[in-house]
Amino acid sequence: MTPVKIGILGLGTVGCGTVNVLARNGTDIAGRAGRGIEVVAAAARDIERERDCDTSGIRLTTDPGVVVDDPEVEVVVELMGGTETARDLVLRAIDAGKHVVTANKAMIALYGNEIFERAHARGVMVAFEAAVAGGIPIIKAIREGLAGNRIEWLAGIINGTGNFILTEMRDKGRDFEDVLAEAQSLGYAEADPTFDVEGIDAAHKLAILASIAFGIPLQFDRVAVEGISGITREDVSFAAELGYRIKHLGIARRMDNGYELRVHPTLIPERRLIANVDGVMNAVLVQGDAVGPTLYYGAGAGAEATASAVVADLVDVVRALTTDPENRVPHLAFQPDALSDHPVLAMEDVHTSFYLRLRTQDRPGVLADITRILGEHGISIEAILQREPDPQRGEATIIMLTHAVREGAMNEAITAVEALPHLLTPITRIRMEAL
Ligand code: NDP
Ligand code: HSE
Repeated sequence: MTPVKIGILGLGTVGCGTVNVLARNGTDIAGRAGRGIEVVAAAARDIERERDCDTSGIRLTTDPGVVVDDPEVEVVVELMGGTETARDLVLRAIDAGKHVVTANKAMIALYGNEIFERAHARGVMVAFEAAVAGGIPIIKAIREGLAGNRIEWLAGIINGTGNFILTEMRDKGRDFEDVLAEAQSLGYAEADPTFDVEGIDAAHKLAILASIAFGIPLQFDRVAVEGISGITREDVSFAAELGYRIKHLGIARRMDNGYELRVHPTLIPERRLIANVDGVMNAVLVQGDAVGPTLYYGAGAGAEATASAVVADLVDVVRALTTDPENRVPHLAFQPDALSDHPVLAMEDVHTSFYLRLRTQDRPGVLADITRILGEHGISIEAILQREPDPQRGEATIIMLTHAVREGAMNEAITAVEALPHLLTPITRIRMEAL
């Protein structure tokens, strides 16, 4: 089948991330979507500038309208940012019967009600997973995975730049301005970084999350907004002394008399999982009446993390264009004819590190025998510990942590060590994963 042709408005951080992910993972993406995805046209302000992605074979223009109107383009991917021009272009694409994918939370928060109404009337999709929490599939999780629940509340760290700043201030004592400049150079911050530090970006995202969670229209203007610019290093360390972390949270809560919608810095007990979400990472805690609390975690900003969500939306659109509408998502994610026969490894061929506990006689040369056998099997030791729980009986407990090794080699080494006369009991082994 011929690939679906897409046009991208914007070749900045997310635009180029998307081009790169589509190029690198093209085969798997086509296997899931049922058809390939080809970028045929793209717009940027300066098309002479060197980009972080390969644009060969893509028609480049400085006029995003040319991409929208391009008869070959079936899906318009809006990654320019801004609100007014982006809205006009998205509505133009919808009117032309084209599906739209966007990462633009500001545009969705402000004009989403109008855009969705128009898309509904025209029978096209507008997908916006990347608009909230970067690479975390939080929209899909709430809209699909939690569809059986009445959502009671949600609370999230939903601005990567702000969390990066707070984390660096706390851990390294760095200055606000200095960390913000780094977040900008890493491509995390909005074109206007006051959106990040004053909580506006988080408010855009919270408005979107609240709509999806509670089934209410987008109401950005009803979100109470406070940013992190007033937080000092002193506050961060006083909070720490009291056992708390300061995090910028977006909170949406269903109350008997209405919905709370608010974003602001918040003290959270330091043992809570969400208090330990650091750097550019985001996390969203969602409380459903049936499932209870669920937590979603991942990179909240950055080129490829955000592209991950953009491409997931593209796959959804392509499936809708391609497959039986009654059976849009393949049961095993990939189309049946795209399933791979790459083998599942036997446990002997799996590589992990190991914790080993050995009970031995406490004699000279015992440790040397054990390490020699491990060495002969290519097993390298990361740490070693010896305890003598009962010196009177001349016994010792030896604990070893190894570097990663093939399980088959470890099995052989254990058999050989257990055959030594000084071993008193079988070896206890527990696999280790750094994850
Ligand atoms: P960038 O500023 O890096 O990229 C914007 C791109 O759009 C640039 O290539 C720019 O061209 C182009 N552009 C802007 N205006 C025009 C115009 N009028 N005509 C033609 N081209 C134009 O932004 P990001 O990639 O960071 O963000 C894009 C969108 O994704 C925004 O809505 C943002 O909120 C959202 N987003 C960003 C995330 C991130 O981590 N960065 C994460 C999640 C969402 P040129 O390069 O020539 O200047
Ligand atoms: N500027 C945003 C952030 C990008 O830092 O979270 C991701 O939406």
